[in-house]
Amino acid sequence: MNTDCVFRVIAAVVLVMGTVALPQPASAQTSAASGPPLTFTRDVAPIFQEACEVCHRPDSTAPMSLVTFEEVRPWVRSIKTRVASREMPPWHLDKGVGIQKFINDRSLSDTQINTIVRWIDAGAPQGDMKDMPPPKQWPSGDRFFLEDVLGPPDLVVRAKAFTMPGKSADIYFETEVALPLTEPRWVRASETKPSLRGRRIAHHANTWLIRPQTPEAIAAERAVRAGQAGADAVIDERVSRPPSEKEGFTEWAQGKGGEIYPENVGKLVMPGTKAYFRMHYHAVGEEVTDALEMGWWFYPKEKTPKYSAEYLTIGGGNAIQVPPNTVTQHQGMTVLKVPTILHNFQPHMHYRGKAQTLEAIYPDGRREIINQVSHFTNAWHINYIYDPDYAPVFPKGTVLIVTSIHDNTAGNKHNPDPEQWVIWGERTVDEMAHLNQQLIYITEEDYRRIVEERKKRTSRQN
Ligand code: HEC
Repeated sequence: MNTDCVFRVIAAVVLVMGTVALPQPASAQTSAASGPPLTFTRDVAPIFQEACEVCHRPDSTAPMSLVTFEEVRPWVRSIKTRVASREMPPWHLDKGVGIQKFINDRSLSDTQINTIVRWIDAGAPQGDMKDMPPPKQWPSGDRFFLEDVLGPPDLVVRAKAFTMPGKSADIYFETEVALPLTEPRWVRASETKPSLRGRRIAHHANTWLIRPQTPEAIAAERAVRAGQAGADAVIDERVSRPPSEKEGFTEWAQGKGGEIYPENVGKLVMPGTKAYFRMHYHAVGEEVTDALEMGWWFYPKEKTPKYSAEYLTIGGGNAIQVPPNTVTQHQGMTVLKVPTILHNFQPHMHYRGKAQTLEAIYPDGRREIINQVSHFTNAWHINYIYDPDYAPVFPKGTVLIVTSIHDNTAGNKHNPDPEQWVIWGERTVDEMAHLNQQLIYITEEDYRRIVEERKKRTSRQN
């Protein structure tokens, strides 16, 4: 697949969002133990600007700003703990297990972590203000992140406003919006966002599509997707389910923002489709109103992308039982009916979630760990987006196995009550055990070509 161009676009976006792998600041490398003492202004501020400010600045998502020395100083103990344990910046994927090439990798390098820790151990001195890098300019206001690279969205879908009282149990607010489309369109990017004020009460938001299911609408959709890998299998499966069933589209959560599909991949939306929103709101002590919006960017009308992205939960099941004071393991499988590229890896569990692993058993019997998170936390729903050149590609018949470990003991610091029996359910106090994945179905021919290209690349590298 020719992914170069889109990769650059995505890289630009994640850069804007401050989540791309960071080049080493020269100062971090030159300040060896014997060199001049590490200072905030020269050694640490550049790292924080690149890796923390996107969230830790006034009016952003994190609880405190980490822009100036005065703001940082009271937090250094906590910073040391969170940075050394790789909890911050949030990138909780196990290093050294499975694929490590992602376009939104925001983790710090060992050198950067070492710089921060040694600076704190040495008393966290401020240093000379002359060394302070110029302040980083951040876009302000209520806007879509993707606007920076794609311009304003072609369509903004607005959910009904919702007002959360100051005191309340968590609320799931559901609402449906008819889309004003008069002809089929392919979505190439989308982003969901709560309003600036609403961000305080918005925990996460899922969006679905409700597709028109009349025989005429199905026939029209088949015609638009004719020849596309996996299209018939996807449509047949949908038709076999009740027409009221929704199709997963996107999600917004702490750690998950907008989504640009790779080059030549899109999501077809037919006229008559409705968008369905479900937002999880929590009370923050005062009344807050949110109005969620979803921005869509379309492919030009004359362009039909070769592939479709299918947003699926894989490896899950509803038969979860987590007894009190117990650590459990659940496994679920998904058999791929068509050759498939995985666009991302996104673990999904709730408070008791501890670890998740994705493995593949290939038709020839080989078994491989694709990715793993051993320190999952429900506070973060991080979407690890593969570099398209390294995204896993599987032949038809591959079995994807998802193993989920839940820790319902007092040893799990996120556990609200180890005495509860926990079963599958929507609430955060219930559990889930699946991955939220974007699957890209490809043809047999594409599959063989990609495998060949990668073999050549590997032999060049050896
Ligand atoms: C993607 C957004 C994001 C990025 C990037 C990020 N943080 Fe955070 N950080 C948060 C949020 C949200 C919280 C509060 C929730 C939590 O603790 O996980 C937090 C919590 C923290 C805490 C704990 C505060 C406390 O209450 O003790 C520390 C310390 C911290 N961050 C430091 C950092 C540092 C240092 C960096 C950069 C090297 C960084 N963070 C990058 C969003 C972020």
